[in-house]
Amino acid sequence: MKLSNTDQKIQVLEPGWTPERVIRNVINSGVQENAFYVFDIGEVYRRYKEFITLMPRVQPFYAVKCNDHQTILKLLADLGAGFDCASKGEINKILGLGVEASNIIFANPAKPASHLRHAASTGVNLMTFDNEMELTKIKALHPSAKLVLRIRCDAEVVQCNLGMKFGCDALNEAPRLIRAARFLGLDLVGISFHVGSGCGDPPVFRRAIFAASQLFDYAATVGYNFQLLDIGGGFPGNKGQSLDEIAAVVNLALDDFFGDTDVQVIAEPGRYFVASAFTLATCIHSKREVRNMDEKDSSVTHVMYYINEGVYGAFNVVIYDHFNPIAIPLKGFGGKLTPSSIWGPTCDSMDMVLENVMLPTLDVGEWFMFENMGAYTLVACTTFNGFPTSKVHIVISEEDWLLMTSELSVCEDQFVFGNSPSNLRIGLDVGDEDDKWETPLSVQSPVCRKPSLSCHVDVLDHCSAQPPSFLCDFVEVEPIN
Ligand SMILES: Cc1ncc(COP(=O)(O)O)c(C=O)c1O
Repeated sequence: MKLSNTDQKIQVLEPGWTPERVIRNVINSGVQENAFYVFDIGEVYRRYKEFITLMPRVQPFYAVKCNDHQTILKLLADLGAGFDCASKGEINKILGLGVEASNIIFANPAKPASHLRHAASTGVNLMTFDNEMELTKIKALHPSAKLVLRIRCDAEVVQCNLGMKFGCDALNEAPRLIRAARFLGLDLVGISFHVGSGCGDPPVFRRAIFAASQLFDYAATVGYNFQLLDIGGGFPGNKGQSLDEIAAVVNLALDDFFGDTDVQVIAEPGRYFVASAFTLATCIHSKREVRNMDEKDSSVTHVMYYINEGVYGAFNVVIYDHFNPIAIPLKGFGGKLTPSSIWGPTCDSMDMVLENVMLPTLDVGEWFMFENMGAYTLVACTTFNGFPTSKVHIVISEEDWLLMTSELSVCEDQFVFGNSPSNLRIGLDVGDEDDKWETPLSVQSPVCRKPSLSCHVDVLDHCSAQPPSFLCDFVEVEPIN
């Protein structure tokens, strides 16, 4: 099995190495300018194992929307996971990996007609719905679909509430929809719910599983024999957050309400598998000191740092996912702390990553690290204002690599071993595509490029002086015209 369809190698890290050390090594080269992710694929592998161990009755159908990096999808497909797809595009992505259509749930309760037709033509039969209009559409476009009714049951503490958009009321609407499906002669097979993403209210799973069990009973009274319970997503994924409590609630509720049945139970975890696997490194490219306006005291009151990732890129999660990023300066927190803000690279004043945070004095060319950047980040990035999407450097610890390769037949030639500079791609931008790189001029001999003759003489004077090292050392990606 190949875990990637590009030539990018996965770096196997020697004992003691961490994503943070990889970041430091790339940065210490002095020639990396663009932000980049370090993606620990071993983390996804371990979390998959943990999920099926902690909830043995629950089969995970990974929510592709959370992070559709090919390496994640390929690994999970090989481990036997199913997939939750929200659109024709996601369905194609998963079918393209060779996954059986029966291992996909089309879990978007409101589907465009062409996507529904596509599901019918590719044999993707399992799908969710929560309203009558969807039932009529399905009757017309995919009458042999296996339907799962999505009910609403919201967590009281949650990062993203999904119930305001999807899920019918279990008491007042669900019975009517079950009867409507029966009337239309549709194959209704079960109940689903999503308690909300980033759930901080474990008991909600018991409430939702109980509500679902009541509807299993009701459906039996109108002639259905439900076979599927889909407990959705919501499992927290950041470092230090545990699945234990939710797993205990789910297992007990399944025993209590579905104990003596052979109902198939699935879940749609997204962030749990991927959030902590990605660490983002960003570089400060500009800085503004806001001073007291007082004539007698012009001290700095606030520092604004501009970095090369913002809300139009990875930090879209600040807006859409209600994520609170934690900026870790790679040089540490030593020294006097000053009220600061962190801004993205675009010209939009909305492009703010952190409004008010205490930071030590940092310079242009210094770096921040942000952990837990794997969920809903890369999938929703834009290149607004011409800023590129950060690239991904994939790593795995030797220990995880041994475990993974003892279970899966992965091609060894896609891995590089050890921490030699060439493996870290020091001096080059890290990427997941086939980048065409030439040895940067600045690496051959650190010279400052002269501006054109039309420049003002002051600029020429300035340029002949020794420039700050960070300006000299960065790699020029594009040829200068
Ligand atoms: C239908 C559905 N399933 C699963 C998920 C994944 O949720 P999470 O990342 O909280 O596990 C989402 C997230 O929006 C979703 O909409």
